[in-house]
Amino acid sequence: MHKRLARARDMLQQKGLDAVLVQSPVNRRYLSGFTGTAGTLLITDSKSILITDFRYTCQAERQCRDFMVTECREGLWDSLNSLVREYQVKKLGFEDDFFTYRQYIKMRENLEGIEPVPLGEELNILRAVKDREEMGIMRTAARISEKALEHVLPMIKPGVTEREISKELEVFMIRAGCTGPAFDFIVASGWRSAMPHGVAADKKIEYGDLVTIDFGGKYEGYCSDMTRTFVVGKCSQKQKEIYETVLAAQHAALEQIRATLRGCDADSTARSVIEKAGYGEYFGHGLGHGVGLEVHEAPVLGPKSETILEPGMTVTVEPGIYMEGFGGVRIEDLVVVTDNGVENLNNFPKELMVL
Ligand code: GLY
Ligand code: MN
Ligand code: MN
Repeated sequence: MHKRLARARDMLQQKGLDAVLVQSPVNRRYLSGFTGTAGTLLITDSKSILITDFRYTCQAERQCRDFMVTECREGLWDSLNSLVREYQVKKLGFEDDFFTYRQYIKMRENLEGIEPVPLGEELNILRAVKDREEMGIMRTAARISEKALEHVLPMIKPGVTEREISKELEVFMIRAGCTGPAFDFIVASGWRSAMPHGVAADKKIEYGDLVTIDFGGKYEGYCSDMTRTFVVGKCSQKQKEIYETVLAAQHAALEQIRATLRGCDADSTARSVIEKAGYGEYFGHGLGHGVGLEVHEAPVLGPKSETILEPGMTVTVEPGIYMEGFGGVRIEDLVVVTDNGVENLNNFPKELMVL
C-alpha cells in the first residue's frame, strides 16, 4: 500500500492539490486495503485518514495499517469539515465519476471555502499498472475461470438452458474461492449470439447453435474476464469461416501487443484482419479494456485510444463478429503487457470446438 499511496501523493503534487477525498469502493480498497462498504479516505501529502462508522472501525484498524482510522459519530461531513480545517486543505480533489450530484451539493454546503477539484481519470489510472501482488491474484482468478469453463463443457448440449450453464459456472467459481461473479455472465446461443452482451436467458441450446460464453469471477477483489465460443452438434462452413477470422484477428493482436504500443494500434491490427475478410461492419466494439478491481477499467484498446501500453497493464483482447439473424463469435483472453509481448493468463484452447 505504501507505494500506491506514494503514487497518489505524486498525483496530488502534480495537480497542485492539498488533499484527495476517496469514496469509490475500488479506489478506497486499492489505496487503503479496506474492504468494508462505508468509508472515506482523506489523503494529504503527509496524512492518510480513513473515516468510517461504528460498524467498521475494528475491521478498518486491522486492514488499514497505513491509515489513521477515525470513527464519525457526528456524521461524515462534520468529521471532514474538522479535518480539512486541521490540515489546512484548500484544494480538494474528488472522484467526479463516482460522486452523485447530491454528494457534490453536500460537499459544497459543508466544506465552505474549500475548492473541490474533479479528479477525472487521474486517480483511476493509478490502478492500470498492476503490482506483483495484484498480478498473482489475477493469475489465480483467471485459472479459476478456466477450470469453471472446463467443468461446464459437458453441459453445453441441446436442451440445456443458457441460464443453467451460467449458474453452474458461478457456483463452481464460488466453490473454488471466488466471492461472486465479476459481471452478469453472457451465455448467448444461436440467434442470441449475435448480441455481444446477450446475458444468459431461458433459451435452450439447440443443435447447430453457436454458443458464446463470456464470464469471470471476483477473487480477492480482482476480476477475471474471458470468452470462448463453441458450436453445438454440427458446424457450418460460414460458422467456421467467421470463427477462424476472429481467431486470426486475436492472434494478430496478441502477436503485436507489448509495452510502448498505443491502444488504437492494437485495435487496428485486429480490425484490419476482420475487415480484410469482409466482416468489418460486424465488429462494432473496441478490441479490449483493462481489468482489475473493476471488470472495465483503464486502459482502453479501441480505435480512439492514444494510451501507450506499459508493462504490468492487464488488458483483454476480444475481437468479435456479430451478424443479426446468423449469430456471433467472440474470443477473449486476459493478458499482462510486458516489455516484449504479453503473458496470456488464459490458456484454454482456442481451436474451434464442436461439442
Ligand atoms: N464481459 C464484458 C466484456 O468482455 O467486456
Ligand atoms: Mn468478457
Ligand atoms: Mn472483456
